[in-house]
Amino acid sequence: MNSSIEDPISGTQTFKASMRAQWDIAAAGWDAHIADISAWLRKPTDAMCCMAGVRAGDRVLDVAAGSGDQTLVVAQEVGAQGYVLATDLSPAIVALARDNATRFGFAQVETRVADGEDLGVREASFDAAVCRLGLMFFPDPLQGLREIHRALRPGGGVCTMVFSRPEKNPCVTILMSTALKHAGLPARDPFLPGGLLSLGQPGRIDALFRSAGFDDVATTALDAVFHLPTVDHYLAFVRSSASPILQILGRLDAAEAEAAWREMRERLMAFTTRDGWEGPNELLLTAARKHKEAT
Ligand SMILES: C[S@@+](CC[C@H](N)C(=O)[O-])C[C@H]1O[C@@H](n2cnc3c(N)ncnc32)[C@H](O)[C@@H]1O
Repeated sequence: MNSSIEDPISGTQTFKASMRAQWDIAAAGWDAHIADISAWLRKPTDAMCCMAGVRAGDRVLDVAAGSGDQTLVVAQEVGAQGYVLATDLSPAIVALARDNATRFGFAQVETRVADGEDLGVREASFDAAVCRLGLMFFPDPLQGLREIHRALRPGGGVCTMVFSRPEKNPCVTILMSTALKHAGLPARDPFLPGGLLSLGQPGRIDALFRSAGFDDVATTALDAVFHLPTVDHYLAFVRSSASPILQILGRLDAAEAEAAWREMRERLMAFTTRDGWEGPNELLLTAARKHKEAT
């Protein structure tokens, strides 16, 4: 997943085309597990909206919105007088976000297929912006943050959510290392651009926000345990929607891939408790503001 971005121009295009294709495939699986995802991320999502300063009547930009779970939370917050633009690279997942917004009756939600590094929105046209578990997939997250900065009005707020470092996200680390081993690929630097944990290095995301021109940058680490009935529920989620893992295992034949899934299951069993299965995660919520006098 990371090797293709070494050549700056064609590498980035190839990387993004592959990312789009992966999420087009994983879109239905992600949306099928949205109730579990929503429960897992509910508190961090509420915190993200609050830290971005989302208020009734606001115009809010949702970047890498997926099938729109956090879009619906934002839509509720801004109310009927507000507006939410949910954007994502994957046309398949944007179609699901549109269906979900319609199903829940949120006429204030608009959806658009857009690369987060080139949103194509009008300058200074949003009061606030959010990006939940998306920015780490960008090959150039600084450019993604510059786009959000451009889209915000002076004084507008933003909050992003990404995974923190590997030790704090052991399930992601197990999935990735097991998949790579079975695919015969070398271990990867988790902090290389575009990977699941790429923005988890302490201080990294704050530095990017500052380079993008933001003021009042502050990152808060939040524990977000993924509670599920059993390890098999977690694996069902991963098998249908964890696009980076699926991409690595896509190199294997069916029997080889099954061997990888069996080893992942054995290792993930370590998180089985008397109350079910509890996968630890740590998320970084980074809030910032566009300078009031910025143009
Ligand atoms: C883990 S999902 C998160 C979706 C949603 N925000 C949520 O939390 O439910 C990551 C999303 O990032 C999107 N994505 C990846 N690279 C992107 C890019 N360069 N621009 C916009 N979206 C991107 C994927 O298509 C996918 O929908």
